[in-house]
Amino acid sequence: LEKEALLKVNEAKELKDLQEVRVAYLGKKGPITEVLRGMGKLSKEERPVIGELANKVRENIANELDGKKSTLEAIELEKQLENETIDVTLPGRPVQIGGPHLLTSIVGEIEDLFIGMGFEVREGPEVETDYYNFEALNLPKGHPARDMQDSFYITEDILLRTHTSPVQARTMGEYNGEKPVKMICPGKVYRRDTDDATHSHQFTQIEGLYVDKDVRMSDLKGVLNRFAKEMFGEDREIRLRPSFFPFTEPSVEMDISCKVCNGKGCSVCKKTGWIEILGGGMVHPRVLEMAGYDPDVYNGFAFGMGPERIAMLKYGVDDIRHFYINDNRFLKQYHKA
Ligand code: PHE
Repeated sequence: LEKEALLKVNEAKELKDLQEVRVAYLGKKGPITEVLRGMGKLSKEERPVIGELANKVRENIANELDGKKSTLEAIELEKQLENETIDVTLPGRPVQIGGPHLLTSIVGEIEDLFIGMGFEVREGPEVETDYYNFEALNLPKGHPARDMQDSFYITEDILLRTHTSPVQARTMGEYNGEKPVKMICPGKVYRRDTDDATHSHQFTQIEGLYVDKDVRMSDLKGVLNRFAKEMFGEDREIRLRPSFFPFTEPSVEMDISCKVCNGKGCSVCKKTGWIEILGGGMVHPRVLEMAGYDPDVYNGFAFGMGPERIAMLKYGVDDIRHFYINDNRFLKQYHKA
């Protein structure tokens, strides 16, 4: 019996085989247990002899099993290690590194430019009250110009802001009508437009506001001229055209001279050679007054621009939807190395 068992142990190739041998020979239903169980039937003289023999056989088999188990375990471990070895000489997989979204970069660039001219950067809520979005900007209820910006209303008095101009009123309010204000505010705005190449129901704006005791239209022109040249190149000219916004008087729209350059030189684009990029004007006295500034002491200028439009002109992007579809093939072109 012992020999037979030891042979089986030797033949075992896997840990699972060993366990089978253990159960077969040493288990509760195995031959040795049976012998030991039958001891009662043996004579007094036979008992110690058979008992000793049975124990001995059991011990030998158990020892052999344990020995073989260690060997098999070692082999298994060896195999596992071999399978898991890494060939460190294989070329690595390139790591995909992201980069800022074109819109994020442009907004950052514009912010830096205005910070350089002494403006602070502020933020305001995207879910805005009718008061700040319209009333405080000289657009009382029923004013026809409210229709210029079709709005997403949440309740009768709360809406998604249609422009960043409410931040003008909020900032002046915080400054208590006492201190000069010089801020820009980038952020998302919402309008009920059907999306197409030049419209998006959500887009971004950057507002600018400068209120102090002696601010003039020429200051607005100077600041915007600097902006246009920094953004598009020193050879660009700006021009202001009369326009209308309820919160500025007088109001203007600004064009930049429009040049398209290629390998053969530069030519003027479009028929007129000018392209509109933003709206602005002198802050309406009523807007100053509502925000707590005395219009006889303070005055100021404000402007609002769309960074998408700036980016489209600067980089020749032909469809505003590119900014929001987030196709990596588009976005990657503008990642700086
Ligand atoms: N809020 C205006 C718009 O959305 C832009 C603007 C801002 C005009 C500030 C004048 C002054 O069209």
